[in-house]
Amino acid sequence: MRTAPDSPEESMHVSITRPSTPEEALALLRGARSELGTPIADLVVTDEHLTTAFANRNRRPEWVWTADRDGRTAGRVAGWGAPANDQPWILDFFDLGEEPDRVDVMTALLRRATADLRAGGLEQVELNLFPPAGWRDDPPPALPDLLAAAKAAGFEILVTRRRFRWTPAAGLPSVRDGLRFEPVSGPDDPVLADAYLRTFQGSLDAHTRRSLRTRDAAELAAEELADMVNYAGPVDGWRVAYDAGGALVGLVTGNPGAKVFTGYVGVVPEQRGHGYARELLAWMTTWQAEHGAEKVVGETDDENVPMRRAFEAVGFEEESARIDLVG
Ligand SMILES: CC(C)(COP(=O)(O)OP(=O)(O)OC[C@H]1O[C@@H](n2cnc3c(N)ncnc32)[C@H](O)[C@@H]1OP(=O)(O)O)[C@@H](O)C(=O)NCCC(=O)NCCS
Repeated sequence: MRTAPDSPEESMHVSITRPSTPEEALALLRGARSELGTPIADLVVTDEHLTTAFANRNRRPEWVWTADRDGRTAGRVAGWGAPANDQPWILDFFDLGEEPDRVDVMTALLRRATADLRAGGLEQVELNLFPPAGWRDDPPPALPDLLAAAKAAGFEILVTRRRFRWTPAAGLPSVRDGLRFEPVSGPDDPVLADAYLRTFQGSLDAHTRRSLRTRDAAELAAEELADMVNYAGPVDGWRVAYDAGGALVGLVTGNPGAKVFTGYVGVVPEQRGHGYARELLAWMTTWQAEHGAEKVVGETDDENVPMRRAFEAVGFEEESARIDLVG
């Protein structure tokens, strides 16, 4: 008499491994394919990226799950986070593999990853997919498979976003006279923290709005600014801006280097509608260009039309999209 399989994975004839060392993780992830065909999705599966990310602790063995079937790799998932954090920010690495039931295998991987991360104390797990800009009309075949697996594993779309890039070929943006830009002393600078907090009001950003439903705004601001150092720091180029009358306009963050990020652009509610987002972004992009930027990347929600227009006005072009799912 056959006994019932112990777990869904067993009934699918896959076993899921969570490696215990960076070397083991690298060996398990080597040779993965993203199939989404965008610069960021293709980058995260490269050996070069993975080796650096494990060395920097942006990736960890315990944030990797791989499915094995009869000695073949049937699918892989991995997360990304800050070196000092115990939990990843996002799961961003997905290899669907080539098995005929790959959607089910990915579902099992995502279920297992979610259960493990929740057991470790992460309240909500977020997946970021990076499909091409035209994904709604012309999705790469892997996208419906990934979305189906995510939905079957209990995830739903929080927001769809656009990813923009500026390169020196676009030319340096002009910066209008009249704004004064002041440096900040650190992510906990009270002037910066106050400016950041004030930009939450009336925000069009889905992540901000969702967090504010359950979090104290000042606490959230402090935590997010501390986190921002990990992807848009150090704070050398972070600025708070004032208008000609000395009133606070907003803030902008970003990092120096060859491949860099626009961290955040925010205008306080009473100053909105004067195109200041464009000016803040133009200032930061110029600063980054002067500090050797060959590529600056920034993202915003599809619904955040003023921010999208600011990217376009500064000479950014759309590089890809992003679909954020939470579960
Ligand atoms: C996105 C943001 C920086 C744009 O501010 P801005 O530079 O004042 O925007 P613009 O001057 O280009 O505004 C264009 C239009 O959008 C409107 N607008 C700007 N921000 C708005 C908001 N949050 N809610 C509703 N309408 C807004 C303006 O009033 C203006 O309307 P009008 O054309 O009828 O006069 C600002 O909304 C903000 O700080 N939001 C919170 C932070 C954020 O989302 N940052 C981007 C994430 S990286």
